[in-house]
Amino acid sequence: MSEPLLKVENLKKYFPVKRGIIEALRKVPVRYVRAVDGISFEIKRGEVLGLIGESGCGKTTAGRTVLRLIEPTAGRIVFDGTDITALSREELRPFRRRMQIIFQDPYSSLSPRMKIGDAIAHPLLVHGLAEKEEAKEIALKMLRRVGLTPEEEFYDRYPHHLSGGQRQRVVIARAMVLKPEFVVADEAVSMIDVSMRASILELLESFREEYNMSQLFITHDIAVGKLIADRIVVMYLGKIVEIGPTEEVLKNPAHPYTRALIQAVPSIARRKREKKLRITGEVPNAVNIPSGCRFHPRCPLADELCREREPELVEVGHNHFVACHHPLR
Ligand SMILES: Nc1ncnc2c1ncn2[C@@H]1O[C@H](COP(=O)(O)OP(=O)(O)OP(=O)(O)O)[C@@H](O)[C@H]1O
Ligand SMILES: [Mg+2]
Repeated sequence: MSEPLLKVENLKKYFPVKRGIIEALRKVPVRYVRAVDGISFEIKRGEVLGLIGESGCGKTTAGRTVLRLIEPTAGRIVFDGTDITALSREELRPFRRRMQIIFQDPYSSLSPRMKIGDAIAHPLLVHGLAEKEEAKEIALKMLRRVGLTPEEEFYDRYPHHLSGGQRQRVVIARAMVLKPEFVVADEAVSMIDVSMRASILELLESFREEYNMSQLFITHDIAVGKLIADRIVVMYLGKIVEIGPTEEVLKNPAHPYTRALIQAVPSIARRKREKKLRITGEVPNAVNIPSGCRFHPRCPLADELCREREPELVEVGHNHFVACHHPLR
């Protein structure tokens, strides 16, 4: 077996909650949002891991911490055999080129005053990979590659001339121009018109093939995850509750939370009359994490054990793991 490209071990990110002056004077202890609370996973070369879960469960924080755009509170990140957790800015530079991020909002991730061609050429100049003329040539090719043609015309346009879908193509081109080995795509198609989502996903897929690129594909939309991910990881309140091959997880979800998420999406829910699992309420905030299994207050199957003891991930099928005291089978 080849070594995974990315290995994440017990990664944590806690954000301190701002205290008011009175609380500070009273020396009320600082409390923390446990946005990511000890997650471990691996991604192989060329593999797409789909990260799903409700709003606020820590997906973005996980993605950004893996890239060290946010500093981890604890844990280890190993990229291509190198532990990058504690590398200095300078030491991290060569890795920056190899790891890219695509954000959700193509409107705010492009500078309004930069021509889109220059925006794509820019990373090449920053990383010293090309001189100006050559960078322009590469950017033109890239525009063509992502379907923005005639490329000479598009080169000189500004973001406000483009549609949301076209902007996201520019954002993807800008990330791909460095030929990254790993990309975090954070809700990359969520803000894009439904009619254009498939073509953007296909574009990402084509780059995965061309570069043998790995992806952490973050989405709250399981149907999108199903289209693109080889494996799915489900997060709840900062923890992984289930992880496994996409088909297996979607067909045989073992965690009540995963099943409820799937049942909420008619297009992928199974027709078979399986018991509907209704989860009620909202995600509790990540400051006051429930005892035991953090999902227990919303879980229809919860009992005493769930309230008391936190479940560990255990294997329930080939490469399929779940953290639940009463996994569905
Ligand atoms: N910079 C920050 N400072 C304090 N708390 C933060 C910060 N960033 C995120 N959080 C908190 O961490 C938790 C996880 O947030 P995160 O944005 O990672 O969730 P998410 O799963 O990406 O949600 P969404 O689907 O809405 O994008 C939330 O409770 C959020 O309020
Ligand atoms: Mg997010």
